[in-house]
Amino acid sequence: MRILVAGGAGYIGSHTCVALAERGHQAVIVDNHCNSAPTVLDRIARLTGGAPEAHRVDLRDAAALDRVFADGGFDAVIHFAALKSVGESCVRPLDYFENNLGGTVGLLQSMQRHGVDRLVFSSSATVYGEPEALPLDESARLSVTNPYGRTKLIAEQIIADACAADVRLCAISLRYFNPVGAHPSGLIGEAPSGVPNNLMPYICQVAVGQRARLQVFGGDWPTIDGTGVRDYIHVVDLARAHVHAIEALAGEGGSAPAAGHPLHGHTAINLGVGRGISVLELVRAFEAASGRSIPYDIVARRPGDVAEVYADPRLAEALLGWRAALDVDAMCRDAWRWQSMNPGGYAG
Ligand code: NAD
Ligand code: UFG
Repeated sequence: MRILVAGGAGYIGSHTCVALAERGHQAVIVDNHCNSAPTVLDRIARLTGGAPEAHRVDLRDAAALDRVFADGGFDAVIHFAALKSVGESCVRPLDYFENNLGGTVGLLQSMQRHGVDRLVFSSSATVYGEPEALPLDESARLSVTNPYGRTKLIAEQIIADACAADVRLCAISLRYFNPVGAHPSGLIGEAPSGVPNNLMPYICQVAVGQRARLQVFGGDWPTIDGTGVRDYIHVVDLARAHVHAIEALAGEGGSAPAAGHPLHGHTAINLGVGRGISVLELVRAFEAASGRSIPYDIVARRPGDVAEVYADPRLAEALLGWRAALDVDAMCRDAWRWQSMNPGGYAG
């Protein structure tokens, strides 16, 4: 299949382009590089044996996007393109609404104009807000605690409305839990700009000596050891899930799932391992994988954080035939390999 991958130069998108190529699919990247380096394309080329077709286009530029679709002959679209920092979204909410929702609407409109009727969308476990019960399955109550989360929830709703209005359009919103790790080659990985917001990239930067100590946000949560618990998922597993989703939407005979099929219309599916890991458990696993010590201080809780989040991942297995295969040791080993081979990210 020929797949338009919006945001394909980013962290999860780049791994998905590699996973698509491994299955014989052709990825065409559309990215404005607001949060990615064009050099990632060379790395993808080294992993796949050929440079991916790529277009520097903003999803909100309808004319430019239409040109890509007009020349494309796409079977499906995967939509990763978004701004993703929770903290920044609280400071610049309108930029988040404009980019994440404007981009999503623009993409859906171009798909409609060009008769492309299959979409896989990057959603997030953030749409569950503060969990009422664990593990979280897809029927859990939805709520948001910040503007970024609101963009994910509203984007899911926009996509569901578009599917309801057009019987041919089928979409899967994949609700990622906590993606971490890197490709085992060490050639592609997560390259945050500035101070990392998320735990694993922060640990990696402490391990290579770029940051002195980790701050553990809260030691008094009602969890196994008092630190926050999350469902970390290896980015290679996550990338593979997108291939399963695209192939499931292709169904038999290559047309989008018809009425009565479980994937007809819009479907939300969790992507997690189904197991919670605490901050200190992750620190210890990383120390074992890297042979480096990670000094830390336990400090105040971070505003907006919750104690514990982990997925019920069974729907992904039932509908997509996918389950996570890589454990926390692989996540730490591959994150460390990426960080030690590329201490400055794609800049070197
Ligand atoms: P990323 O920032 O590395 O990748 C996003 C890519 O989209 C970047 O290359 C960026 O340049 C591009 N982009 C952003 N806005 C664009 C626009 N208007 N037009 C064209 N390109 C645009 O992020 P990621 O970690 O790979 O995340 C991918 C998706 O998954 C995002 O939608 C994110 O919200 C979602 N998600 C990520 C996480 C996570 O922890 N990484 C968790 C849950 C959900
Ligand atoms: N943490 C620290 N120190 C740090 C960073 C994080 O102790 O320097 C802790 C947090 O308090 C939390 C855990 O590590 O207990 C994980 O924090 P992350 O920031 O890595 O991840 P979150 O679960 O807070 O959020 C992530 C993404 C969101 C997404 C959410 C659910 O950043 O965008 O997962 O998918 F919405």
